[in-house]
Amino acid sequence: MCGIIGYTGKKNVEEILISGLSRLEYRGYDSAGVAILDNGELRIRKKQGKLAVLREDLKKSPIKGTTGVGHTRWATHGVPNDTNAHPHVDHKTQIAVVHNGIIENYQELKKKLQKAGYEFSSDTDSEVIAHLIAECYKGDLCAAVRAATKQLKGSFAIAVVHKGESGRVVGARRDSPLIVGIGEGENFLASDIPAVLEYTKKVIYLDNGETVDLTDKTCVIYNGKGKRMKRKPTVIKWDISQAEKTGYKHFMLKEIFEQPEVLRNIFKERIKKGRVNFEELKISKAQLKKIKRIVIVACGTAYHAGMTGKYMFEKYARIPVWVDNSSEFRYRDPLVDKNTLVIVISQSGETADTLAALREAKERGAKVLAICNVLGSSIARESDGVIYTHAGPEIAVASTKAYTAQLAVLYLLTFYMASARGLKAARNKQFLKELKKVPHLTEKLLDEYRSRGNRLAKYATDFHEYYLARNNKSCFLYLGRNINYPNALEGALKLKEISYISAEGYPAGEMKHGPIALIDENPWVVCIAVEADTYDKMLSNIQEIKARGGLVIAIVSQGDKLLKKGKLDYIIEVPRVPEVVSPLLVVIPLQLLAYYVAEAFGYDIDQPRNLAKSVTVE
Ligand code: AGP
Repeated sequence: MCGIIGYTGKKNVEEILISGLSRLEYRGYDSAGVAILDNGELRIRKKQGKLAVLREDLKKSPIKGTTGVGHTRWATHGVPNDTNAHPHVDHKTQIAVVHNGIIENYQELKKKLQKAGYEFSSDTDSEVIAHLIAECYKGDLCAAVRAATKQLKGSFAIAVVHKGESGRVVGARRDSPLIVGIGEGENFLASDIPAVLEYTKKVIYLDNGETVDLTDKTCVIYNGKGKRMKRKPTVIKWDISQAEKTGYKHFMLKEIFEQPEVLRNIFKERIKKGRVNFEELKISKAQLKKIKRIVIVACGTAYHAGMTGKYMFEKYARIPVWVDNSSEFRYRDPLVDKNTLVIVISQSGETADTLAALREAKERGAKVLAICNVLGSSIARESDGVIYTHAGPEIAVASTKAYTAQLAVLYLLTFYMASARGLKAARNKQFLKELKKVPHLTEKLLDEYRSRGNRLAKYATDFHEYYLARNNKSCFLYLGRNINYPNALEGALKLKEISYISAEGYPAGEMKHGPIALIDENPWVVCIAVEADTYDKMLSNIQEIKARGGLVIAIVSQGDKLLKKGKLDYIIEVPRVPEVVSPLLVVIPLQLLAYYVAEAFGYDIDQPRNLAKSVTVE
């Protein structure tokens, strides 16, 4: 939540800050601002609204300068307005700070500082940092930042400039991400790599508790005890086009269409000579053999991937699995110990609840394995082992390709575990063969939806009309069974987060225990009825819904008998595959349906209201 950037070099900083912030806008977009050092002056410009508002304002009256910091906000303390927008300054307007995170003891610090004569102007927790640095300032910005951050409780990534120290930017982090971009005669700070990738591929991931002191030519890192640290930059292998829309109307659509490639790469990289290979996994097969149970912990979409993982692990690796929301796990008294493998799943690798759950699990002696997309993220670094999904940057707030990548990794991990535990290798080989066909099948499926006038887009516009005709009174139910039940939850989540339509997912068998009371002509019910052991049960559910006047969108396997009967309102075919791999195909029309509904309503698909891509606060 919130994106921060800092720059020092020779270029026009305003342009660099705005372009960097545009790549961080996925982290928050309710206001934005910059602070620029201009000939011994500290110039601040901040605006409520999306970055475009600030950009327009700067176009009208640009600020010159070659050093500065910028921020795009997702409000935690204080409503989104110009005053609460970052950067925040100290009482003399000498120091400007941008902050991502939450300062938990800000009220206590604020009272102390107010007593000492500091005047506050915003309702934010962040402003306290600017005054605190001013209070600690004795002529050296880096020393002041180190002294001030020691007094902060909570999470932060900050970038700071001082009017009297031109060409210097200082950063610090604890539990919120911050990277340094190392350029030629210029250096950067940012919450995430895409913000600097246009200028450099060399990055340093700052560790928790570190402070960094940047000038155009130097980068000095200190650990929490003030010791200088030597760090080699990592060279990023992907390029900026991966963080751009490349002709697609939205990042979400682009990311949906990237899924075949993402899956192909995962299978190519991980399946070698009929075996699954996880080179970077630091947990040995012998250790895996000793595991008595698995606990999967994650949030949102990653949690749904974890739920699917439960079906796989239990069926094919014969290990009991519990799945928990990170935010619940961390505050329970979870039963994990040295015989438990805790798998944390996170696209960003920075989700605060998942990070806290990981720490909780480690404290209790469990081995923690992360499935992560973002290289060098906090969750990846703090886990005992990590499997990267290598899905490339996911920019849209609604997660799509990260989900299928997580599923793919979970499939492979299931069979890796099964073989570590000496379970039927032959069955595994057949399964791997089926998996390897999936990228091509997803590609074929997506090809059907390339044209704008495609069937799913039509269903979505039908829904839009229906909704308006009923005075905005309709909603969605998603039903699935067995390994496709988590997909029902995922389909509902996708729809509600980008189109604000009420949508719930249920295991279809639960309908008769309550949700069927909702059925009249209002809800649209998406039924996942692909080939499966429970196919006939799903058909009965569909009959029950139709008998009560419900409107059904059925997702079926190619050539399904429901197609011939022509009794359904809407029908979507996916390639016929064994049930176990079907979630990878079923989720695609679910994602697209959500996308097209949001498009029909004219919503901001990549930046839905109230959300942010990576939730680095509780
Ligand atoms: C998914 O579309 C969401 N935006 C959200 O639920 C997300 O999956 C969740 O916040 C977890 O994020 P992570 O994978 O980065 O940990």
